[in-house]
Amino acid sequence: MWIFHSANNYSERVFFVTWSRWCLCYCAAVACLLLSPVRTDDVCLSSCVCARNSGTVTCREGEDTEVPGDIPEWTSTLVITGRNISTLQRGAFMTNGTDLEVTTLLLSYNGIQVIEPYAFLGLPRLHLLDLSHNRLETISARAFHGLPELRSLYLNDSVLPVATTQLSAALSTQSLSNLHRLELAGNRLMSIPLRALDIYNLHALVLVNNSIETIGRENITNLYQQKRLRVYLSLNPFRCSCGLDALYYWLKNSSQCPDAKHLLCSEPEAKRGTPVEMLQGEDVDCGTENLETVSYVFLGIVLALIGVVFLMVLYLNRGGIKRWLNNIREACRDQMEVYHYRYEQDSDPRLANVAV
Ligand SMILES: *[C@@H]1O[C@H](CO)[C@@H](O)[C@H](O)[C@H]1NC(C)=O
Ligand SMILES: *[C@@H]1O[C@H](CO)[C@@H](O)[C@H](O)[C@H]1NC(C)=O
Ligand SMILES: *[C@@H]1O[C@H](CO)[C@@H](O)[C@H](O)[C@H]1NC(C)=O
Ligand SMILES: *[C@@H]1O[C@H](CO)[C@@H](O)[C@H](O)[C@H]1NC(C)=O
Ligand SMILES: *[C@@H]1O[C@H](CO)[C@@H](O)[C@H](O)[C@H]1NC(C)=O
Ligand SMILES: *[C@@H]1O[C@H](CO)[C@@H](O)[C@H](O)[C@H]1NC(C)=O
Repeated sequence: MWIFHSANNYSERVFFVTWSRWCLCYCAAVACLLLSPVRTDDVCLSSCVCARNSGTVTCREGEDTEVPGDIPEWTSTLVITGRNISTLQRGAFMTNGTDLEVTTLLLSYNGIQVIEPYAFLGLPRLHLLDLSHNRLETISARAFHGLPELRSLYLNDSVLPVATTQLSAALSTQSLSNLHRLELAGNRLMSIPLRALDIYNLHALVLVNNSIETIGRENITNLYQQKRLRVYLSLNPFRCSCGLDALYYWLKNSSQCPDAKHLLCSEPEAKRGTPVEMLQGEDVDCGTENLETVSYVFLGIVLALIGVVFLMVLYLNRGGIKRWLNNIREACRDQMEVYHYRYEQDSDPRLANVAV
C-alpha cells in the first residue's frame, strides 16, 4: 500500500493539480452564469444585433411583423429592415411609455403600407428617418407629429399614387419645422407634394425620377422665395411646350436646381431627349402668342362696337340730320344770294361814278 502510495505520489499530485484547475474553471463558469443576468445591456432583442459601443441595434429579416418591443434605452441608431411590418402603429417605438434617445431610424424595405397617427411618438431626438422602399397607401395626417428635431426624411420609392394627397397633408405639419432634407425620388409624383415651403427650413428637396411634366408659376414663385433651397428634378418627363415657361426661366435665372443640365424633354415627340436648358424662349413662350391673338380679337370687337354705335346714332337722328342738312343748304343759299346781290351792286356803273 505505502509502496503503491509513494509510487503513485507523483501521479496523485498531478491528479490533484488537474482537479483543482477543473474546479476553478467550473466555479468561474458558474459565477459567469450567475452574474450575467445582471448585465442585461449585453442581451439583445431576438433576431437583432446590438452594438453597444456605437449605440446601434440592427434587426434584419425575421418573422416578426411588428416593431420589436423592448428597444434598449441606450440605442441611438435603430435599423429595422427586410421585415413584413404592414402597419406602423401609434406609439410603435414607445418602450414602456418612456421616450427613447434614438436619433437615426432606418425602416426601409419593410413593406409598410399604413402609418397610423402618432406612429413616431416617443422619439423626440430623432434627426433622420428613412422610410424608403415601402408600399405606403395610407398615411395619417398626424403621422409625423412629435418629431420636432427631424432634419432628414427619406421616402424614396415608397409612396403609392393613392397616397400622394395624404402625403401632402402629413407633411404640412408644424412639427417638421426643422426639416432640412426631403427625398421623394421614384414616387410617380405629378407635382410638388408640399402645400407651402415656408413652414420648413428646407435646404434640399429631391424629386428625381417622378412624373412631373411641368411646375406652375405659383409654385415657382414660392421656390424663388426660398433662396437657400435646392431642388433636384432630373429623370422627370418634362413637356416642353406652352406652360413650361415659368420652370424654364427659373432654371435660367436661378441656381436653385443643381441638376438643371440633366433635365430632358419627353414631350412633344420632336423635342424628346432635348435638354430643357437648350430650348429657346419661343419654344415655351406661348404666353405672348396667346396675348397677341387675344389683343387682336379684342381690338376687332371694340372697332365693331364703335361702328354699330355710330350707325345707331345716325339712324336715330335721321329726322334731325335731314333738318340740319336743309338748314345748311338754306344758309348756303342765303349766303350765295347775299354775294350775288353785292356783286350786282358792285358792278353798277352809276354807283361807281358816285363813289369817284
Ligand atoms: C406579410 O404579412 C401579411 C399579414 O400580416 C401577409 O398577408 C403577407 O402575405 C405577408 N407578406 C410577406 C411578403 O410575407
Ligand atoms: C416599466 O415601467 C414600470 C412602471 O412604469 C417600471 O416599474 C419598470 O421598471 C419599467 N420597465 C422598464 C424596462 O423600463
Ligand atoms: C434615397 O434614399 C437613400 C436612403 O435610403 C439615400 O441614400 C438616397 O440618396 C436617396 N435618393 C435617391 C435618389 O435614391
Ligand atoms: C425610378 O422609380 C421607379 C419606381 O417608381 C423604380 O422602379 C426605378 O428603378 C427608378 N429608376 C431609377 C433610375 O432610379
Ligand atoms: C403648388 O401649386 C399648387 C396649385 O397650383 C398649390 O396647391 C400648392 O400649394 C403649391 N405648392 C407650393 C409649394 O407652392
Ligand atoms: C429672376 O430671379 C430673381 C431672384 O433670383 C427674381 O426676383 C426675378 O423675378 C427673376 N426673374 C424672372 C424673369 O423670373
